[in-house]
Amino acid sequence: MTATKGLEGIVAATSSISSIVDGVLTYRGYDIDDLAANACFEEVAYLLWFGKLPNKTELDQLNKSFSEFAPIPDELIAQIKLYPRDLNAMAALRSAVSALGLYDTQAEDDSQEANENKAVKLQAQLPTIVAAISRIREGKEPIAPKQGVSIAENFLYMLTGDEPSETAVKALDQALVLHADHELNASTFAARVTVATLSDMYSGVTSAIGALKGPLHGGANEAVMKMLNEIGSKDKLEAYIQQKLDNREKIMGFGHRVYKNGDPRAKHLQKMSRELGEQNENTELYEMSVRIEELITGQKGLRPNVDFYSASVYTQLGIQRDLFTPIFAISRVSGWTAHILEQLADNRIIRPRAEYTGPTTQKYI
Ligand code: COA
Repeated sequence: MTATKGLEGIVAATSSISSIVDGVLTYRGYDIDDLAANACFEEVAYLLWFGKLPNKTELDQLNKSFSEFAPIPDELIAQIKLYPRDLNAMAALRSAVSALGLYDTQAEDDSQEANENKAVKLQAQLPTIVAAISRIREGKEPIAPKQGVSIAENFLYMLTGDEPSETAVKALDQALVLHADHELNASTFAARVTVATLSDMYSGVTSAIGALKGPLHGGANEAVMKMLNEIGSKDKLEAYIQQKLDNREKIMGFGHRVYKNGDPRAKHLQKMSRELGEQNENTELYEMSVRIEELITGQKGLRPNVDFYSASVYTQLGIQRDLFTPIFAISRVSGWTAHILEQLADNRIIRPRAEYTGPTTQKYI
């Protein structure tokens, strides 16, 4: 038995949800470029769960369910108020989603119908939880979700209480579409491994949030912004990047296990970053990002991934750095729950083997 480090190249599941072939990402057969240009996030969530785009009636019904389920239990708000103020936002989200399951009377019902219902509830409630965590740690009261508005608009509204601009809503909605699913990425795999033991959906999503938190996965978008902040201004950029490269340090937001010729999602976020900069009449973050890309691609041949331009997009939307990965989770919970439903529809416990490399001839006495 020989192990493959990082399971690189190992095909560990069959899935009809999303695919990456020759650098092209599709959700249920729809090219991500097509969806990014034409679909809203709610349609994409429906597509991932049910395998087809919703018609008008189905979309209206889904939006009604999102509005109905978006409020979170008062008990959960009370718990979040007990979290330390200097919390890690992803750790807080992981804890809150785990606790959320305690208040769902369907949590242990493993019927297909209950699981589909839980997927919709989790999608509706994650934005409310993230916004509540953000406000409570600042000593503010959480804002109740609005009825009848999109997930992107509601989230931005719940963060500040202000009506977000149309551009901001459109940018966040598109970012949610782009992050919704990505084949067997680490957090999705974690979700599938968890529910394959016939544990519940809340446990699966809690596992996934834990996996997404790491800087080699979803946490990279925060690390990119940290780097942009550390650089500070364009004139310091080249020396900073050169030193990182000389020290053989990883540059966050570059490289990918699956895409070696570029992540198809990055160009959309780059465009969004430029447009937001132009609209705010401050393109410095965008220009710095482009220069970093030129340097890294030029010297290392590495291309930006989904996280690289997300950082400047979210910052220009006025979102705090440590909420970037929670926003990734707000989107990816659609994919996680779709994969959980798929796993449970044809389940077998996921239990690979390890190549043993320890001592072989020890004796107790
Ligand atoms: N900066 C500098 N070098 C990088 C790099 C980066 N962002 N990403 C990969 N490399 C280099 C590695 O150092 C390694 O070089 P070596 O063979 O000389 O040691 C080589 O490219 C392969 O990288 P490796 O980490 O083994 O690839 P992987 O498939 O295991 O990992 C990532 C993929 C995404 C985890 C990796 O590219 C990375 O850490 N990127 C930064 C984090 C990030 O942006 N994550 C978000 C992913 S969407």
